[in-house]
Parts: sequence; structure tokens; C-alpha cells
Amino acid sequence: MGFFCNRCEDRGIILKGDTAIPCSCSEQRAIFKRFKDSRLPLAMQDDTFDNFSFIYYSKHKMDPIKNISYYQLAEMAYGAAEKFVTDFESNPHIEGLLFTGPVGSGKTYLACSVVNSLLKRGQAALFMVVPDLLDMLKATYNVDRNDISYTEQELLETAREVSLLVLDDLGAHNYTEWTKNKLYSIINYRLNHRLATIITTNISPEDLGEYLGIRTRSRIFQMCCPYKLLVDKDIRGLKRRNSFHSRS
Ligand SMILES: Nc1ncnc2c1ncn2[C@@H]1O[C@H](COP(=O)(O)OP(=O)(O)OP(=O)(O)O)[C@@H](O)[C@H]1O
Ligand SMILES: [Mg+2]
Ligand SMILES: [Zn+2]
Repeated sequence: MGFFCNRCEDRGIILKGDTAIPCSCSEQRAIFKRFKDSRLPLAMQDDTFDNFSFIYYSKHKMDPIKNISYYQLAEMAYGAAEKFVTDFESNPHIEGLLFTGPVGSGKTYLACSVVNSLLKRGQAALFMVVPDLLDMLKATYNVDRNDISYTEQELLETAREVSLLVLDDLGAHNYTEWTKNKLYSIINYRLNHRLATIITTNISPEDLGEYLGIRTRSRIFQMCCPYKLLVDKDIRGLKRRNSFHSRS
């Protein structure tokens, strides 16, 4: 899907009498390009702060560790994500965010809210689903790599150097030594250059080291402030049921 402007028919300029003036679509076009470059999936462009609903987070159920309600946890995570956006605009070299919690608790949603806001405000970001990133890196080793338009180095450099990187779903996968090393090199580079990173994972902070190695875990905690989200039920399931009801 491309961007097409009906006003200027994609010429970028419109004629007023004899003079050509820039069409107002240029800003829209720039936003469109940033969204495309960010790799943020289309379905997640609706995951915005405004659409975020707190109804999924119980005011009565308590997190036994922090002794605050699920609702308060969500408020804290949401607040941190909103603050991240304003802080990032004045200085992109800020502490990142680590969203932890069970399946369907809004971790990816909040990361996408940050990306959506920043892209609309003219900032660049890259949204990478970790298993996809690792597959893309592996694919560069295929002998028959005609359908691949990037090199391993290019992909690694983009992930290392973009001013905001989202590593989505750094979950409980089977990490080989090779994949652990790739992730380490991205995270270590970003830490050394003070580049902001947002990570979502359903591994508990205590277990991250087991999956990724203690050196990567230690760096993640140095560069990202952790926020936990807890829900009674997977929000994905709840929303699915509602959308089926409203359709019938
Ligand atoms: N607070 C919220 N308000 C509205 N919709 C939400 C909220 N949180 C999550 N959703 C929706 O619920 C679904 C699951 O949310 P999300 O993808 O953020 O889960 P997750 O915590 O990342 O889960 P997983 O561990 O499986 O990746 C998505 O469709 C998302 O848009
Ligand atoms: Mg997710
Ligand atoms: Zn135009």
C-alpha cells in the first residue's frame, strides 16, 4: 500500500495561477514514510495512548511482590510510556523501558503507543519482533539468498544505530549461542552509545539471565527501567470475544 495524494496527484506541488506551490501532503508523506521505515505492523497503528483502556486491569487484585493493584501497575507503566515520549523529544539519550508480564497484558500495546506518538511527532523508530529479527539475520546466511535485499551487517547496523529501537517479544524462545551473541551485540552497542531501547518480554526479570546470558541481562537492567503489567485474563481473548459479539 502506498501513499497517494488526490490534491496534487502525487506531484508534490499544485498550481495556483502561474505559480507552483508545495502541496500540504509533504508532511503526510513524510509521516507515511517514517511509519513504513519503522516496520510497525499496520494493525498496531491503532495501539495509541488515547485508545488504551484501563478496564482490563483489576483494582482489587494485588501484585503480591509490589503490593499494589493490577490497575496501579498499569497506571505506572502507562505513565512511564507517556513520559518517555516527552522526554525523548527533548533528549533521545534517555533510559529505556522494559515491559514484563503474562501473555496478552498490554506490553506490546504500550511499546506501540510510544512508537506511534513519536513517529507522528517527526522522530524515527524501529519496531523489531525479536524472533523475526533473528530469522532475518539467519536468512542472510542462505546460499540461495536472491529474495533478500539486505546484508547481515546492514540489518545489524540499523538495529544498533536507530535512535529508538523496540525489541518486541524478547520471550522464552530457544536462544542458541549464535542468537544470544547477536542480541548481546545489539544491546551492548546501544548501551555504550546511550541509545534508547524499549523491550517487551514475558520472561520474569529473574529468569532473563537464564535465557539470554547474565551479561545481556545485566545490560538490559542498566539501560531500561522495568514495568510490570498483570491481568486476570489475556486481553487478546477478551477483545476477540467482544468483537465477535458486536458483529452478531
Ligand atoms: N490496555 C489496553 N487497551 C486496549 N487494548 C489492549 C490493551 N492492552 C492490550 N490490548 C490489546 O490486546 C491484545 C494483546 O495485547 P498485547 O499485544 O499488548 O499483549 P502482550 O502483553 O504483548 O502479549 P504477548 O506476551 O502475547 O506478546 C492486542 O490486540 C492489543 O491491541
Ligand atoms: Mg507482545
Ligand atoms: Zn499532495
